[in-house]
Amino acid sequence: MEISGKILLICDDRIFAASIEEQILGLGVHSVFIESTLQAGLESFKQSNHDLVFIKQSMAKEGTASLAKQFKEIDPDCLVVALLAPGNEKGVKELPGSGFYDFLNSPINIDKLKFIIEKGVNLHILLSANRKFSLDLKDSNRALEKQNMLLARRIEDASTNLSRLYDDLRSTYMRTIKVLAQAIDARDHYTHSHSENVARYVIEIANYMKLPPKEIEMLRQACELHDLGKIGIGDNILLKVSALTELEWEQVRKHPVIGAKILEPLTFLNGVVDLVRQHHEHYDGSGYPDGRKGSDILLGARIIHIADAYEAMRSARSYRKVPLFKEEAILEIKRNSGTQFDPKIVDIFLKVVDNL
Ligand SMILES: [Fe+2]
Ligand SMILES: [Fe+2]
Repeated sequence: MEISGKILLICDDRIFAASIEEQILGLGVHSVFIESTLQAGLESFKQSNHDLVFIKQSMAKEGTASLAKQFKEIDPDCLVVALLAPGNEKGVKELPGSGFYDFLNSPINIDKLKFIIEKGVNLHILLSANRKFSLDLKDSNRALEKQNMLLARRIEDASTNLSRLYDDLRSTYMRTIKVLAQAIDARDHYTHSHSENVARYVIEIANYMKLPPKEIEMLRQACELHDLGKIGIGDNILLKVSALTELEWEQVRKHPVIGAKILEPLTFLNGVVDLVRQHHEHYDGSGYPDGRKGSDILLGARIIHIADAYEAMRSARSYRKVPLFKEEAILEIKRNSGTQFDPKIVDIFLKVVDNL
């Protein structure tokens, strides 16, 4: 039978060492190294990392307890077997707790020697494999952790870039649409700055009502875009000097729906779309496009409707070259309170009209 594994024998007694070596080789072990001093044994162990170390216990100059420890400092899994020289049986008492794997008395019991070598070599191979596996696992974990951190940082960077990109895209969209809305106002030189003026009036009313800043910002955007749908109405109607025919009115009444349809795909303008659609609804249900009534019309849309009407009356139009006086426009708003306009908002409008 052959036993794999490397065995180191440290013994300063030449005859004793030769006798043990012979017995070990007789068991089928091929690799036995012999050293005659502890220092040489430690050096040899450092070089070759043997599976099993046999050492004569009496060679421990600093006491039995430190003997096995010196080998374990080199390889924590090393298995050290104490050899008790003939006549040193009492040394057995010093062995417990000193880190030895096992011990052998003299004369050597061949069965015990065989058992120690077979079991010890296998155990050392297992312990070494386990340690290597643990170390590899630690290395892999460290590498994984590093990779995770790197990945997390990359994701964070990508998210920041993405959100910056989204913000840029959003503001570019907003600028484009705003320019488009201003261009529509400018088609008719009479309505130039109409949307901006409506926004100013609406913000004045909304501030008086102490609406939340987020809602006021949404109202401002809705005002800037409220007549965007006029892009779908021809100049022959929009710039017409004489009164519109019923068919032409039908075209004009489509602009809140056209505007809402243009803005609908822009998800960041969520609340704005409905305000644009409802800005011509009347409090009594006689408005367009849906004939909504009272509180069924968004509060913001009811505010925009008053500001929009007042701004239109106070500006010249192609069909009315001279704007109404302030008092005339106010009177018109009052006259339509409760029918076209929400009376509560008319009351607030009357309180702030001098600031407009
Ligand atoms: Fe409009
Ligand atoms: Fe308008």
